[in-house]
Amino acid sequence: MATGTGRNSQRVRTAPRALIALTAFLFLLFTPFDSPAAEETIYDGGVVAADHAAASEAGKRMLEAGGNAVDAAVAASFTLSVVRPYSCGLGGGGFMVIYLAGKGGEPSRPIAIDYREYAPRRVGPDYFEKIDADSFTIRYSGRSVGVPGTVAGLLYALEQYGTLDRATVLAPAIEAARGGFEADANYEKVGRSVTAWYESEPSRKERYPFVWKSLLKEGTIREGMVLKNPEQAEALRRIAAGGVKAFYGGPIGAEVVKAVRRRRGEMGAGDIRTFNVVETNPLVGEAFGRQLITMPPPSSGGVALQQIFGILERFPDRLEGAAPDGAAYIHLVTEAMKHAFADRARYLADAAFVDVPVARLTSESYISDLAQRIDMKRTGRPETYGTKAPGDDDHGTSHLSVIDGDGNAVACTETINMYFGSRIAAAPFGFVLNNEMDDFLTRRKTRNVYGLEQSDRNLPGPWKRPLSSMSPTILLKDGAVEVIAGASGGPRIISGTAEAILNVILFDMSAGDAVAAPRFHHQWVPDKLFLERGLRDRKLQADLFGKGHTLKAIETVGAVQLIRERSGGYEAACDPRKGGSPAGIARR
Ligand code: DON
Repeated sequence: MATGTGRNSQRVRTAPRALIALTAFLFLLFTPFDSPAAEETIYDGGVVAADHAAASEAGKRMLEAGGNAVDAAVAASFTLSVVRPYSCGLGGGGFMVIYLAGKGGEPSRPIAIDYREYAPRRVGPDYFEKIDADSFTIRYSGRSVGVPGTVAGLLYALEQYGTLDRATVLAPAIEAARGGFEADANYEKVGRSVTAWYESEPSRKERYPFVWKSLLKEGTIREGMVLKNPEQAEALRRIAAGGVKAFYGGPIGAEVVKAVRRRRGEMGAGDIRTFNVVETNPLVGEAFGRQLITMPPPSSGGVALQQIFGILERFPDRLEGAAPDGAAYIHLVTEAMKHAFADRARYLADAAFVDVPVARLTSESYISDLAQRIDMKRTGRPETYGTKAPGDDDHGTSHLSVIDGDGNAVACTETINMYFGSRIAAAPFGFVLNNEMDDFLTRRKTRNVYGLEQSDRNLPGPWKRPLSSMSPTILLKDGAVEVIAGASGGPRIISGTAEAILNVILFDMSAGDAVAAPRFHHQWVPDKLFLERGLRDRKLQADLFGKGHTLKAIETVGAVQLIRERSGGYEAACDPRKGGSPAGIARR
């Protein structure tokens, strides 16, 4: 039963779309929040916001060389493979959402590229049940590894929509791998936590030697240490020279298969030789007078964001004058998240393999129904969120946002899943392999490493892609790019991305403030509202507790990279939770 029928409920009448848009517009016009406190750089010639400064710089180099946003994104991503080897890289996969602004009378065009890893051909729905796999096997063995897609995806994007050649775009990554780069504070922090994993079972040092020796320097990694990765430099050089075949059809791919099989994985030569990149239409919706361009399944992020924003815009009276750190606002956004995560758990999966009712889940009538079930006074029991389907009974990711001088935009999120993925490496080529198989429902009635409950729709299957929370997103206002955003952080990607974007469109925060503001997270199950340190004020907690929420402290809700339009140019920010800084061209 819907929470909206409870004793304390306040039924919300759904207003017609035009009225909602008008009210939202008036609200924004008279919003009491000040303009940004701190002056931020306005980039009018393009800017890249990646979660490591060297990657942003690599992208900027492409913009300066006359390249477009896609060239910059691809250069930044290959560089991340070197400087954030625990977040993403050649052994992982990702999603890229592109907006081509349309030059010289050409129509503008949104594009989605899916290069998420998929399951090897020999892995069926009962694979992990049959072998009675424990969570260690599912996360740290050859069986945890999906067929890597990053190289295919990046080179596809470059060939179809970039303008520069492979050698130019790969040059900064090769230089970083060969010449070395400094470990930053985030590297040290991750290094310390993964070192503890090695120390807790010292035989792991022999079983996963590349990460231990080369990427963690046997536990001595500290900020400022210079790291080189000549093996990955060689892999990148081969990719620059030979293209996609150099990875999938040659010794690099063979090494991936060998490393997986040595650790009892099922990947075969055929799995890697035939990796398919999927170009598709993004999921486009409207909310708050903007066009919201998001990633369709196998991302759950697009559907979730469309639902969350759609629900929220049906509450103009509640949003008017709201405070981003106030109990009423946090409660309302949390309720929207609970609906979205409930539907994620029940319906979302790779739509190429199972029926995913995307149109229904994002329809106006369904979103109105979800909104009407929200009780502003009290949160409900988990079973009262989303819709039951018939028959129902921190880590390794990186997001980058780019805009170029012509208004083309890229939002790109990539992952190897957990820190250093499976911790198994293609050692001769200097990169680690993902453990993306844990994003499937590997064993029924279990939750994955992020505590996510999922349906049978997300069971593994040959060449099926595991459900993802990655949410690369572009917002258009009046036909031009207004916001580009996305995050790392497992399911907290969805909440982190949503909240940062809302900070811009509802509260007109600067890019820096929008990203830095404290965040909260609710993923339906566990039934807990997670609060970052900045939201642990006693009064706020008492108010949220009074609405029935079970509160829990959390260190970070994702790491967001965001670009927003301002004064005809763009502000850009990288999340201080992870580090990194934007790099761009400011001509004024
Ligand atoms: O695709 C997903 O949803 C997860 N593999 C993402 C993991 C992640 O974001 C780890 N975080 N930093």
